[in-house]
Amino acid sequence: MASTMSTPVLLGGLPSVTLPRPGWPVVDAADVEAVAAVVRSGVWSWVGPQERAFCEEYARFLGCRYCLCLANGTVTLQCALQAVGVEPGDEVIVPGLTWVATAQAALDIGAEVVFADVNPRTMGLDPASLEAAITPRTRAVVPVHLYGCMADMDAILEIARRHGLRVVEDVAHQHGSRWRGQAAGTLGDAGSFSFQQSKVLTSGEGGAVACNDPEVYRTVFALKQVGWAPAEPERAPFEGLVAARRYGHNYRITEMQAALLRGGLRRLAEQTARREASAQALAAGLAALGGPLQAVPRDERVTTQAYYAMTLHFDPDLAGGLTREQYLRAVQAEGLSLGVPYTAVYRHPLLNLDDRTSPLPYRQRAGRQDYASLALPGVEAATTRTGVILMHQALLGSQAYLEQILQAVRKVNDHLEPLRKALAEKA
Ligand SMILES: Cc1ncc(COP(=O)(O)O)c(C=O)c1O
Repeated sequence: MASTMSTPVLLGGLPSVTLPRPGWPVVDAADVEAVAAVVRSGVWSWVGPQERAFCEEYARFLGCRYCLCLANGTVTLQCALQAVGVEPGDEVIVPGLTWVATAQAALDIGAEVVFADVNPRTMGLDPASLEAAITPRTRAVVPVHLYGCMADMDAILEIARRHGLRVVEDVAHQHGSRWRGQAAGTLGDAGSFSFQQSKVLTSGEGGAVACNDPEVYRTVFALKQVGWAPAEPERAPFEGLVAARRYGHNYRITEMQAALLRGGLRRLAEQTARREASAQALAAGLAALGGPLQAVPRDERVTTQAYYAMTLHFDPDLAGGLTREQYLRAVQAEGLSLGVPYTAVYRHPLLNLDDRTSPLPYRQRAGRQDYASLALPGVEAATTRTGVILMHQALLGSQAYLEQILQAVRKVNDHLEPLRKALAEKA
């Protein structure tokens, strides 16, 4: 009789993963003291010393001229798009697979969103689909580097240059990734980061825009600071505020958030190196196991990969009749939590353009890409059949934890047929 350790849990065995997944976010005593010091200081907001210091430190880390903190990684996209020149009525090309906010940010500033397809393995914007979506009204493109891969920035930048498009990178998942040595978020005209709780650099909520052009910086500053911006950002990026004649809002963060970000940034490079090593070990382990679940190979132009998640590919043809969801159920029973990508944005339940709370122009459908009938093949494949992700917390686990992950996958791979039968009987 097979031992309970080699039998899948769904067939009566014991789970493979018994060690706890590392917790997130990571904080240390210095973070707690830094936040307490801010609280005691009474300086809690309004582009204070913590925020200024973090902006300088993060810009240095990224290797760009400017960084600005904003309330979240959605308004960063709105402001960055406006700052690079997107105006109401312009078309903005967005991948059909991303978090809904990427599209909503463009819609909320009055732009038309045109969805393009993604590479089903890396889930990055497909350059051919981008080029096919360009019209005379296209003003900007938003490449999103999802999970543990980057989009093909060589091809995307070349197309953008040839068609005179502005490029705003959505780097909500890529704090510290590098493409040929250059930081993700600094390859186009502006980069938009999120610091929401799940991200590898976090302050609970928050976001940042990275850029090199002082005029883009000035405009984003004004948009987040009710219309006020530094008169001479090259000389004094936080001082000498004058009315910039922009329609600005309050999208500021607090000093407590900036203090947490400074702590997270001190740990980021070391954590990224650990995640990279774990991802490499898991990719090699999965390749040695064979079977339906494999790591998506790293593009050699990605010189550093910040893993918000490790991007995996599930091949249904090698799964003995199990669907992705059934396979993930069996793995979950072993104590390993694997996720699936976001929903296709064009049918996301939150993208409620016809609701009375959505901006007025979108209640008229004329001229809009027909989202309801859209089915982009790469997006459909990744979202419904083949895309799988392992969140970054797991990549901070010990060697023993990584081995348990591989044991869980091996056990499921070794029992595809009996698992299919058992799940069919349960259904
Ligand atoms: C790809 C992407 N873009 C934008 C955002 C929006 O960031 P936020 O939640 O900080 O508004 C997210 C959030 O998860 C995201 O995953």
